[in-house]
Amino acid sequence: MMRGERRAVIRGTGSSLPDKVLTNLELERMVDTSDDWITSRTGIRERRVARENEYMSQFATRAAERALESAGLPASGVDLIVCATVTPDMPIPATACIVQNNLGAAGAAAFDLAAGCSGFIYALAVAERFVAAGDYRAVLVIGAELLSKFTDYRDRTTCVLFGDGAGAVLLTPGEAPYGVLATEMHADGSMADFIYVPAGGTREPASELTVAERRHYIRMRGNETFKMAVRSMEESSRAVLQKAGLTPADVNLFLPHQANRRIIDAVGTRLGLRENQVYINIERVGNTSAASIPVALDEAVRQGLVRRGDNLLFAAFGTGLTWGAAVCKWGS
Ligand code: UT7
Repeated sequence: MMRGERRAVIRGTGSSLPDKVLTNLELERMVDTSDDWITSRTGIRERRVARENEYMSQFATRAAERALESAGLPASGVDLIVCATVTPDMPIPATACIVQNNLGAAGAAAFDLAAGCSGFIYALAVAERFVAAGDYRAVLVIGAELLSKFTDYRDRTTCVLFGDGAGAVLLTPGEAPYGVLATEMHADGSMADFIYVPAGGTREPASELTVAERRHYIRMRGNETFKMAVRSMEESSRAVLQKAGLTPADVNLFLPHQANRRIIDAVGTRLGLRENQVYINIERVGNTSAASIPVALDEAVRQGLVRRGDNLLFAAFGTGLTWGAAVCKWGS
């Protein structure tokens, strides 16, 4: 949706990754795979994974603290926290409430939003409307995921892909031309079984049998998801740019969901983007689901790759299936 004068601008960014590294060579010792297969088919060389005693809210909190620090805003000034995740600390309460308490953001509204790897796009789209409408003045949008806790390290088709981490942005009101210019959200539940965790919900509550059958881990139809990902990310990118009155040629930096290097390259090529217009960190972090775009953004900002006035394009797809895109003019 195009906005009038008041827009949500990204005032600060932050991220947090586990310090533990899981390399392709280590995976070679766990499942029937090879560094060569993983690198050539996915672009991933290593990923960060949480330790046994670490959990999602710790990383989400650290990412949020860093976003607040970079914006120069105390936690007491936050009035809404949206946490995009499908790997919460526990089924209830929402991890956003735990993060609110950790931050000391007393009084802030807080909720989780589940859209898989598209979670950050969905959360940004929701949050920016609250800011643009004048309802909230400081909104933390967090994408945080510990997929390793739901990964079957006996399943070579999934375990080589996923990594853990958290990223956050702080949205505040700002003036045109800066801020979130347009967003796109889509879903098609007929492909719900492309990426799913069969057990642990109300349909198949956790039991000794579901654990024995490893039904509490992620299952994925990778090849079909791959094709859908390329198509959906290209289409939603084009649509969101059109809404904002831009073309791919106006994009200074494309920050796509980091699921597979081949997907990123295919979308970049279809959009006609040059290599230096696309931010890629998948070789170091793997697929961190909802965290991948805000982590990439925080890295790009801290590396000085993002300048005032730059048009940033975000695009993602994931379980649901869901997909979407957002475009933002950097600065305030
Ligand atoms: O964020 C959204 C989450 N989902 C995704 O990102 C999934 C997107 N999909 C992909 O990234 C790719 O489809 C994969 C990386 C998952 C798989 O790559 P692919 O080129 O689509 O391979 P494939 O599934 O067609 O499998 C090709 C072969 C199969 O062997 P056969 O049947 O040809 O003998 C697989 O069993 O590769 C085999 N294979 C592996 N071999 C070594 C699958 N995983 C591995 C592995 N190591 N880790």
